[in-house]
Amino acid sequence: MRHRIWLRTVSTVLNPKMRSHTYIDTLGSARIMARVLDGKALAKEIKAELKIKIHNWVSSGQRAPSLRCIIVGEDPASHTYVKNKIAAAIEIGIEAQTLKYDENLTEEALITAIELLNEDTTVDGILVQLPLPNNIDERRVCNAVAPEKDVDGFHITNVGQLCLDMPTIVPATALAVIEMLKRFKIETFGRNAVVVGRSKNVGLPIAMMLHSDKNHDSGLGMDATVTVCHRYTPPELLQQHCRNADIIVTATGVPNLIKADMIKPGATVIDVGITRITDEQGKTKLVGDVDYDDKCLYIVRALNSYSRTDIRRGHKRALVTPEENAEENTSRLSNANKEKRSILQRVQNLTP
Ligand SMILES: NC(=O)c1ccc[n+]([C@@H]2O[C@H](COP(=O)([O-])OP(=O)(O)OC[C@H]3O[C@@H](n4cnc5c(N)ncnc54)[C@H](O)[C@@H]3O)[C@@H](O)[C@H]2O)c1
Repeated sequence: MRHRIWLRTVSTVLNPKMRSHTYIDTLGSARIMARVLDGKALAKEIKAELKIKIHNWVSSGQRAPSLRCIIVGEDPASHTYVKNKIAAAIEIGIEAQTLKYDENLTEEALITAIELLNEDTTVDGILVQLPLPNNIDERRVCNAVAPEKDVDGFHITNVGQLCLDMPTIVPATALAVIEMLKRFKIETFGRNAVVVGRSKNVGLPIAMMLHSDKNHDSGLGMDATVTVCHRYTPPELLQQHCRNADIIVTATGVPNLIKADMIKPGATVIDVGITRITDEQGKTKLVGDVDYDDKCLYIVRALNSYSRTDIRRGHKRALVTPEENAEENTSRLSNANKEKRSILQRVQNLTP
C-alpha cells in the first residue's frame, strides 16, 4: 500500500469555500484529491444575506414575511425537520409558526385548514410536511395550497411552470443543488450531466433546471446535456452514463449505488441521498448514495489539472435541506411589492 503524506491545505487560488486536499505521492509528485465544496459555509452566507434583506424590509415599516408549517401525526423525523425549518426561518427574521394535528385528522379537515391559511392575508408561505398519514391524498393536499404561498413548490401550477421554464417556486432541494453549482462556478453549459433518481420532488426538478435554457424566463436553466437514470436503468448502463458524466447528481436513497470507479476524474458529484443504516457494530448512521469509503476514490489527477470535486454528504446536506430554502421561498411569497420580490431574486439569481 502506498504511503501518502497529507498536506491538507486551504487553497488561496481557489474560491475560499473550496478546500483542496493535496498530498505528495511515493514518487514525490504533488497530487490533488478533491475539492470539498463547503455547503455549510454557503448556507450560512445565504442566510446572512437574507437576514439583512429582511431586516431592511422590516426597518422600512413593512410586516415581516410569515410562514406556517403544518404537521400531521407524530413521525419523529418529520417533527425534527419542521422544528429546524421554523428555527431557520425565525433566525433570519421570518415570523414562523407550526400547526400540529394528530394523525386522525381527516383529509377534508386538513384541506379546510389550508384554505383558511390561503385566505389569511397575514400569512405569506404555507408548508405541509410530507409524508402525510396514509388516509390522506398528498397530491390533493399539495394542490390545495395557494400556488403563490406554496413554499415547497409542489403545487401542480408551480411544477408546470418549472417545466415551462417560467418563474415559479422551485422545490427547495432541487434549487439548492442548482444554487451550489452556480455559487461554486461549476461549468454546466453543454456538459454531460447525469441525474440518478426521477422523483417528482427531487430528481425531476433537478433534471428540469439542469437541461433548461438559461435564457428562458425562469433564469434557472443550466444548459447541460442531461441523462436521467432510475430504478429500471440496468446497472451496467448506469455505470456507463456516470463514467461519461461531467456532473452527477444522485438522489436515490440507495447506499453505495455510485462507486468511485463510476466517476470520471474531474467530475462534480452532488450526493443528495440520505439513508439511515445500521453498521456492523449495530450503530445507526446516515449515509449518502455515493460510496465514499471505496478506496478508488483516491485515484487522483495531477495537481492543477482537472480535480475531482466531491460534495460530501455532510457538507451538502447543510445546504440542501428544505429548511435552508424555506425562508427564501417564504420571502418570495410576500412579493406584495418590488422590494420583497428582490429578496427572492437575490436568492434565485445569485451570480457566482
Ligand atoms: N438532502 C435533502 O435535503 C433531501 C431532500 C429530499 C430527499 N432527500 C433524499 O434523497 C433521496 C431521494 O429522495 P426522493 O424523495 O426522490 O426518493 P424517492 O424514493 O421518491 O425516489 C428515489 C428515486 O431513486 C430511483 N432509484 C431507486 N433505485 C435505483 C437504482 N438502483 N438505480 C437508479 N435509480 C434508482 C428511483 O427510480 C426513484 O426515482 C432520499 O435518500 C432522500 O432521503 C434528501
